[in-house]
Amino acid sequence: MALLKFPDGFQWGAASAAYQIEGAHEEDDRGVSIWDTFTHQPGRIVDQSNGDVACDHYHRVQQDVDLMASLGLQTYRFSVAWSRVMPFGKGAISEKGLAFYDRLIDALLAKGIQPALTLYHWDLPQSLQDLGGWTNRSIADWFADYANLCFERFGDRVARWITLNEPIIFTEFGHRTGVMAPGIRDLALYGRAAHHALLAHGRAVQAFRASGKPGEIGITNANTSYEAADDSPETAAAVELARDFDSRLFHGPVFGKGYPQSVLAFHETRHAALPVEPGDMEIIATPTDFLGTNLYSRALIEAAPGRGVGFAHAAPRLPLLPMGYEAAPHALGDFVRWVSKEYGNPKIYITENGVCDNSEPGPDGQINDSTRIELLGGFLKGLHGAIEAGCDVRAFYQWSLYDNFEWAFGYTKRFGMVYTDFETQKRIPKMSAAWYSDIIRRNGVEV
Ligand code: FCB
Repeated sequence: MALLKFPDGFQWGAASAAYQIEGAHEEDDRGVSIWDTFTHQPGRIVDQSNGDVACDHYHRVQQDVDLMASLGLQTYRFSVAWSRVMPFGKGAISEKGLAFYDRLIDALLAKGIQPALTLYHWDLPQSLQDLGGWTNRSIADWFADYANLCFERFGDRVARWITLNEPIIFTEFGHRTGVMAPGIRDLALYGRAAHHALLAHGRAVQAFRASGKPGEIGITNANTSYEAADDSPETAAAVELARDFDSRLFHGPVFGKGYPQSVLAFHETRHAALPVEPGDMEIIATPTDFLGTNLYSRALIEAAPGRGVGFAHAAPRLPLLPMGYEAAPHALGDFVRWVSKEYGNPKIYITENGVCDNSEPGPDGQINDSTRIELLGGFLKGLHGAIEAGCDVRAFYQWSLYDNFEWAFGYTKRFGMVYTDFETQKRIPKMSAAWYSDIIRRNGVEV
């Protein structure tokens, strides 16, 4: 066994998102979000569940922060539910909704846990969806106003801001494949949503700079580490294409490299062009302070000439986790090396990485989530290697603190290092919780 030490000052945390944990969907002034609408439509969620109650975090803030402190977390990433603080997405604000996040932030700070606030983790106010949501260019204004409200109210205590969580997921899955809210299937609307999401990100960064608040701001992208299914040059080209349509589409513009030509051409030839207007790319490229990186797995890519965009996912070769992902612990270090090289070694926070392990309590009440421990250990080993190689990674947020509502999978996928009994709302630390505490204490992982 060897202890891989992380750099001094490296931060360890956990991540969550409002709709997945808060519950209290009709409490105080909270407005309806697209996830409320979506989950209440038949057939959308595998177990027909919803986030009406979820982990009831809205009523258990202090208890949950105490739990974080008991694990030794140094930072906690959470999101604000837009419709809690602006019930209709614009205009009226809710003091009660704002007060909830004040309580959370103050409780974190009292325990010495640094808050990292995500402005948008998928729960768009339904009133804005009724106006076209992300497909309406005005969303950039609406989002900047909402961001300003948060900077104004929380910027005295929050110094780490994430504009958007995983724009590719809420735009593509929400507008092209339709498996997530708002459940639309239309390539042109996807193109619009994607461009407007990036524009909204840029506008929020500008608003943050103009607010004069201290602190840092960045975007969080969803990532997959793409690998070639074989050694042929055609496959190598297909891997680059996969990177264009996923990684480069959402990183390129933010880092001033624009959209990949392959993506622009694909959308244009299908009458689904990205609605880029003069000046947009400059707004989107407003410099950020860090890159948020989420990663769960890799994908094997093969060439698919004449089909779709020209690449396809080859059959998985590694064991599959309950989410259908390959168990690929090397993927985190690999992706961090790739993205660092591609975009000039930015400062990176791993804003999400974790493992779905559905272990239930044993006869002794213990939850032995050994798959999570084994794979997370592998992810951290790879990350350590990337840092040794010069990548500038400063923090790691495990997804997630406790089991929660996993979007279209409902409550069927458990990602927590703490078990949530959804009947009683009891939180029971799993084996991985003690293991992670130990990593935090030693600032290193034993492999
Ligand atoms: C990410 C999401 C997060 C959670 C994990 C498992 O894509 O950002 O909310 O669902 O996957």
